Amino acid sequence: MHEPTLKIEGIRVAYGKKEILQGVDFELAEGETLCLLGANGSGKSTAMNAISGFVGCKQGTIKLEGQEIQNLPAHKSFALGLVQVSQSRDLFPQLSVEDNLKLGAHVRSRDTAAVELERVYGYFPRLKERRSQRVMTLSGGEQQMVAIGRAVMARPRVLLLDEPSGGLSPQFVNEIGTIIAALKEDGATMLMIEQNLGLAFMVADRFIILRDGVVVDGGTVADYADDHEEIVRSIYL
Ligand SMILES: Nc1ncnc2c1ncn2[C@@H]1O[C@H](COP(=O)(O)OP(=O)(O)O)[C@@H](O)[C@H]1O
Ligand SMILES: [Mg+2]
Repeated sequence: MHEPTLKIEGIRVAYGKKEILQGVDFELAEGETLCLLGANGSGKSTAMNAISGFVGCKQGTIKLEGQEIQNLPAHKSFALGLVQVSQSRDLFPQLSVEDNLKLGAHVRSRDTAAVELERVYGYFPRLKERRSQRVMTLSGGEQQMVAIGRAVMARPRVLLLDEPSGGLSPQFVNEIGTIIAALKEDGATMLMIEQNLGLAFMVADRFIILRDGVVVDGGTVADYADDHEEIVRSIYL
């Protein structure tokens, strides 16, 4: 059988004495989009941060194409192609849209960066129109586009999206959803955290639900297309 792109087995993460992830397992196949669901505080961001190397695991393994990567520092995980868009976005507010995007490709050659930039503008025409504008003057939705665009500039092996719709107006949730769907159509492999089930189910193939640091449920989006209520119960009740 083909090796999964990402394989997480029995990971445990604690902040000090407080154990947050208590043995989490899941896999992500090439070209697949998996959505991580769960109530606030259930450990979704912690699980993503363990994959991208922003937090360490005290137990368990994380494999990228068979190679163990748990506890690598974040810059090394990034270099291997695990590129995360965090909830805080971490943009450079004083710099222009284009300079923020270019920073996503800083480890690549100039020629490649120019090609990537045009590719990213293909997904985000709204950013192309605003290429010289300072990021601090953009709306929240546009800033989220810059954050995703910057990650796409790095040509990630796995794109990690932590609540891409967080705090956005319905119009932007739709626009971002359309863009994520286009990335998927072009073959992107993605792990996404999302509270907006409409968006999650528009783009994901499969979902898992975290509760108190363990995976309690999961399934194929197609199987639950008409039964979001069941999932909402499983997450919150
Ligand atoms: N750096 C940290 N130090 C201590 N506790 C943290 C830290 N980050 C998150 N937590 C706690 O870990 C739990 C899980 O957080 P998180 O993974 O961010 O949840 P989610 O993304 O599902 O909302 C929460 O109780 C949160 O308060
Ligand atoms: Mg979170």
